[in-house]
Amino acid sequence: MQRAYIEEIARYEGQEVRLAGWLVNRRSKGKLHFLIVRDGTGFIQATVFKGNVDEATFVRADHLRQETALEVWGRVKADARAPGGYEIEVLGLEVLSEPEGEYPITPKEHGIEFLMDHRHLWLRHRRPWAVMRIRDEIERATYDFFAQRGFVRFDTPILTPNAVEGTTELFEVDLFDGQKAYLSQSGQLYAEAGALAYGKVYTFGPTFRAERSKTRRHLLEFWMVEPEAAFLDHEGNVALQEAYVSYLVGRVLEHRARELELLGRDPAALEPAAAGDYPRLTYKEAIDLLEKIAASDPEVDALPYGEDFGAPHEAAISRRFDRPVFIEKYPAAIKAFYMQPDDEDPSLVKNDDLLAPEGYGEIIGGSERIHEPGLLLKRIREHGLPEEVFDWYLDLRRYGSVPHAGFGLGLERTVAWIAGLAHVREAIPFPRMYTRMRP
Ligand code: 4AD
Ligand code: MG
Repeated sequence: MQRAYIEEIARYEGQEVRLAGWLVNRRSKGKLHFLIVRDGTGFIQATVFKGNVDEATFVRADHLRQETALEVWGRVKADARAPGGYEIEVLGLEVLSEPEGEYPITPKEHGIEFLMDHRHLWLRHRRPWAVMRIRDEIERATYDFFAQRGFVRFDTPILTPNAVEGTTELFEVDLFDGQKAYLSQSGQLYAEAGALAYGKVYTFGPTFRAERSKTRRHLLEFWMVEPEAAFLDHEGNVALQEAYVSYLVGRVLEHRARELELLGRDPAALEPAAAGDYPRLTYKEAIDLLEKIAASDPEVDALPYGEDFGAPHEAAISRRFDRPVFIEKYPAAIKAFYMQPDDEDPSLVKNDDLLAPEGYGEIIGGSERIHEPGLLLKRIREHGLPEEVFDWYLDLRRYGSVPHAGFGLGLERTVAWIAGLAHVREAIPFPRMYTRMRP
């Protein structure tokens, strides 16, 4: 008999198949037992009718524990009432492994801390299942998008001697003989070396920030996608971000509609983001907009010119738009050392943040990079960074320097927004947070 996966069950309608999976839940009604079975690719109802199986199997089916590993075989039937549209009429079943005791995550309601304590098991359930499949789609869409545009995947180190985004959020690692290294905050500086070697590159890997934040958008360890391209300017950088993010949303709408539905995420809320045409505000315009919002909303504070937006400010701004919004050209004083000054007003930099709508806030930070060696050295000194470890980075400006730009997209924040999650902890299999390091 054909071994089938639940995901592709429709093509076996009317045929007999064998499924290998686990028991999620069961209930009985007279001569019928309803088993909900999962196999990793999906969930399906398997109906055991007394007249279809031998007596021992019928009795057994009524005593299976949650998370029993089993094989069931039977006929695939279309049934509009069944979740997913199909069910299996069971003709036989075999238990492959019995749980040792009662499975901790029962069908009743559990609090988030309990579920996170059992994350290694919770991952099996519907909600994490849908989220991880959306995350997977976004990762695959990322490879496809950049490969189609001729970007080379360029893997950057995790142990590094340099800070990228400021020295206060570095995790220090002891190497040998008192030598120290840091966990990478961003692959950007190495990606710049890659861009000058291969033209267009992107990194995709884990990054680390020692942030003592308990917010719904901060992880200690998160995954970042960082494209970097030679001869790319600020305008090209913004256009690339819009094309990339709208492609990601489009792919999820196209391939993960069931998962969005399962999460209660309305696809209509994502359609504008898939269409592109993202509005652009300058930093100054965003400050002015905040002042306007603050005048009518006591929950929102205005922000003096020259200060950086916090999460509540970004949330208030992003709620004003039905799709992601760019904020560009921040004051140099509140941004990283490597950003290229604006041509018209050198107190500003050619950078942008992309805020996801519905209050989600920043998912991307990007900029054109300083390509002039003298100015870069000046900035390294102004920021009090150790010159000697940036020597190799300055070499990129000493030999064949050209304008270049790039950005970093935080994967978990992007997944949280697209999947409609309240907190980034659900967007990664095992979140590492200020308040959680287990399991
Ligand atoms: O804005 P950030 O700090 O930019 C950089 O690291 C640049 N070097 C990127 C580049 O130009 N190549 O971080 C980029 C993104 C943020 O917009 C956010 O989505 C995510 O990384 N991010 C975090 N996500 C989860 N938890 C945290 N603690 C994060 N910090 C940043
Ligand atoms: Mg940022």
